[in-house]
Parts: sequence; C-alpha cells; structure tokens
Amino acid sequence: MNKFKSIEFKDNILYLIDQRKLPTTYEIFECRDYRDVDFAIKDMVVRGAPAIGVTAAYGAVLAADEFKEEEKPIFFEKLHNALDILNRSRPTAVNLMWAIDRMRKAVERSKDLETVDICEMLLREANSIYDEDIRSNKAMARYGNSVIEQGDNILTHCNTGALATVAYGTALGVIREAHYTRKNIFVYVDETRPRLQGSKLTAWELVQEEIPTKLIADNVAATLIRDGKIDIILVGADRIASNGDTANKIGTFMLSVVAKVYGVPFYIVAPTTTIDFEIKTGDDIQIEERSYKEITHIGGIRIAPEGIDVYNPAFDITPNENITGIITEKGIIRPPFREEIGRLK
Ligand code: MRU
Repeated sequence: MNKFKSIEFKDNILYLIDQRKLPTTYEIFECRDYRDVDFAIKDMVVRGAPAIGVTAAYGAVLAADEFKEEEKPIFFEKLHNALDILNRSRPTAVNLMWAIDRMRKAVERSKDLETVDICEMLLREANSIYDEDIRSNKAMARYGNSVIEQGDNILTHCNTGALATVAYGTALGVIREAHYTRKNIFVYVDETRPRLQGSKLTAWELVQEEIPTKLIADNVAATLIRDGKIDIILVGADRIASNGDTANKIGTFMLSVVAKVYGVPFYIVAPTTTIDFEIKTGDDIQIEERSYKEITHIGGIRIAPEGIDVYNPAFDITPNENITGIITEKGIIRPPFREEIGRLK
C-alpha cells in the first residue's frame, strides 16, 4: 500500500497532495469550499480520472455545507449550481460526471430531510465513493496480476497510481501487485509530455516502492517495443466508449499502434466507473485542449519562440482494435468489446 494519502477529508476541509509541485516539493493543498475544489481540478492540483471523481464528490459536500442555512429552495438552487460548476471543471474523464451524478441522486433521495441531514447524507455518499475506489483498485490489481508473467518488462504511460486514485492505482496498482507478489518485474515509464506525469508522479511513486524502473523519453518507447524489450503495456483510461474505444493521456494511441505492429499485449486498466455507456464510439468523446504554455514553456522557462501557434490536446483515443483487454474490478473484458461491455451495464 502507498504510504501517502492523495485525498483526505477531515472536519469539512479537503486535503489534496499538490501534484503540480511533486516531486521536488511535497505540499498539501486545502480546499475549504467548492470553488477551491473547482480550481484544484482545473489547475491539476489533483488529476487522474478516479481521483477527480472523488474530489468532486467532496466538493459537493463542501457546497452543501456552505448553503445549509438557506431556505430549502435556495439551498437546492445554489447546491445544483455548484454541482454544475464542478461538473464542468474538466471535460474528458467521465468519473467526474459519474461522481457528480451520484451526488445529485443522493440529494434527490434525501430532499425531504432538513438541510443539515442532507449534508450528512452527502458526506456518507462521498465517503462511499472514496471507499469503493480503494476496493475496486485492489480488485483490478488482482485481476491484472493474472496477465503478468514472471520477469515481465512492463511499459506504462502517464500516472495511474495512488496519486490518480484514492490508493493503489489502476495500471500502477497492477504493477504494485505484481511487485508485491514477487514477479520480478521491470518497469519502463514514459515521461509523458507535456505535463510530465510519468517523470514527476509515476517515477516518484515507483522510487518510493523500490520497484525496478527506468524513466524514458516518450519517443524511446517504439524502439524498446521493436527491440523486444517490452512484454506488456499497461495504461489507464479517462473514458471508455461502449465499443471499447478508450480516451487516455495523449500518446497512448501512438503506443497502441506500435504495440499492435510488434504483437505486444496492450491492456487498459480502469474501473467500470470510467465506462460511458451513453456513447457508442470514441468519436463522441470530448478531448480537452489545454494551455499553449504546457508546450511553449517548461518550469516557467520559454522553450519555443514567441508567436508560435500550438495544438495541445490532453488526451487521445485508442481504437478498440488496438486493445488486448480492459482490466476492470469486475474482471477482464476481451473482444468483442461491445458485447462484453454491454453485459456490465
Ligand atoms: O491529465 P491527467 O493527468 O488527469 O490524465 C490522467 C490520465 O490520462 C490517466 O491515465 C487516467 O486518468 C487514468 S488515472 C487512474
């Protein structure tokens, strides 16, 4: 189990590890109201699909507490307005919308209670989302470990660890499990430009766990795959369409293409809360575009000329035909994905 708490809610304050500052500075960011939560998600103090969902759920708790002295109609109006704002904080990871929807349903179920009791209900709901995330990560880790062979060299992208979830992680949770069960694994981690979640966050987690690892520039991955140095690729997901097409950190699609060419198994590891049953294919997934500064600057220093135009999508879509399997807390889904995913609904 990881030794840090990425998300903690205590006495109406949400404590987050400030992921913008890792690995050089370990600092806790305090959210005292839902506006702080909205900022934390937008500015990527917290990131990773499951972690964003849990954070937003506590944002709903903070909003309800702020408005609890209001008359009930005003309380509901202000609370739903806050939920709308949180729902829009980032567009691609569906765990965010899933968590907000679950909080709205909890509001609906308790609408006849006093506002203080509604607050109580919402806190219980957010705590359940938190606990379920840990349970589902542990289940994914066990299922995922069944596809890891003794001595495997594993390639991963972005950060899918305890920082991106409540604990353990998704793809990194599988890697943890394989390491704890002494599979003698070796991990290659992509640095993951532009925001470097691989080198800043995944490498930080792997070093703490003393898992044998090499950090590589993103453009090294294809050569390693071609040279037979990668046995399996494990990545996370931000949204999975009902046909298995998967949105994940930019660069994932490229890895999947190379993996397919060289016959390397390519697995997505994600909880079923990352599946968007409402959409048919990856074409329907909104891809977030982030600031040009993530490309033109590193650590505040300009590395591209003034006046250059930039295209900076944060995610890409891996088509289902490039995916060997999707490891969920309910088991491993294999093609044909549409049928298998339909069964989970
Ligand atoms: O932009 P980020 O850092 O939020 O992107 C994170 C990813 O793409 C992860 O792979 C995904 O959210 C899964 S995290 C368990």
